Amino acid sequence: MLPGLTKRTNVPDNACLKTPLVKFKKGAEPPMSLDMPFVSAMMQSVSGEKLAIDLARQGGLAFIYCSQAIDKQAKMVQAVKAQKLRVGAAVNTRDFKERIPALVSAGVDVLCIDSSDGYSEWQKDVLDFVRKNYGESVKIGAGNVVSEDGFRFLADNGADFIKVGIGGGSICITREQKAIGLGQATAVKDVVAARERYFKEKGIYIPLCSDGGIVYDNHIIMALAFGADFVMMGRYFARFNQAPGKLVNRDGKQYKEYWGEGSNRAKNWQRYDSDDVKKQAFEEGVNALVPCAGDLEPYVQQTLYKIKSTMCNLGSTTLKEFKTNARIVPVSSVGILEGGAHDVLQVK
Ligand code: IMP
Repeated sequence: MLPGLTKRTNVPDNACLKTPLVKFKKGAEPPMSLDMPFVSAMMQSVSGEKLAIDLARQGGLAFIYCSQAIDKQAKMVQAVKAQKLRVGAAVNTRDFKERIPALVSAGVDVLCIDSSDGYSEWQKDVLDFVRKNYGESVKIGAGNVVSEDGFRFLADNGADFIKVGIGGGSICITREQKAIGLGQATAVKDVVAARERYFKEKGIYIPLCSDGGIVYDNHIIMALAFGADFVMMGRYFARFNQAPGKLVNRDGKQYKEYWGEGSNRAKNWQRYDSDDVKKQAFEEGVNALVPCAGDLEPYVQQTLYKIKSTMCNLGSTTLKEFKTNARIVPVSSVGILEGGAHDVLQVK
């Protein structure tokens, strides 16, 4: 990405990371925003109540996972709300008629449908249920999609925000198993273009969340530069003490457990499928370990500071300006090599 003119006023303290969370009409203010452009993934190994509370204390938002009994998920939501903090929650396309009312009664702030393929009539059923029973008072995101037709389907059916990404997650093997998906940068770029066309046509801005594949802070920055409004991360958060995974010692190093929602480990809670379906089931995610990074707070604060710092390089004080100013250029394989430390013996 190319730098723009950094003005004297472009210092991190002046950079604002506020970003829209739910849709709004042209010229209006979004009814709900985030104070930081990332949220935690709707996964058993990521978004339990401990992480949700600590992330919300930093001004962030977690989406409590739905691969658990409805009453357990509702209790987790209540635990966060008892601290007067904001929390999101995932819902699935199967038990939503019972799960959504329970989560709404528990005080959830925003919902999101959890699925690797959001371009489906099941998602329309969930969105219809919310609009019929709650009008616009309950906010719900949908996804995931990687194409314009997928985006339009969810937008036309009332999604408040839309998640982008299939197959890019660190624990994800969907592309290997089923050949479904698209490279994350291409997917974000394509769906952002679709969102801009939709905005011009209908005057409704639908926030986009880039979901999966973020390893480094610069990936968050690139997703925002490509036009995403915020990103969702699993691996990033699974590394912290606050994540639900156990601490594991391997060769003297500390790791945290991190497993995909499509792994057998996560799917074991399910009670819907018949024995015939279970026999044919295959995994779309792996069971893994990630190096433990300690407490969430210093990492989150450093990530936020890096994003602000890049905004300054591009002469921007808001994320909207940052996206307008971003000039993304292709990188050659030589460029990638020279971008890191090279031809030196690094001393730790
Ligand atoms: P990460 O941040 O790269 O670790 O990716 C996290 C994202 O991967 C989640 O937000 C989901 O969209 C996706 N995901 C979670 N579990 C699975 C799985 O088992 N298979 C495929 N994708 C998954």
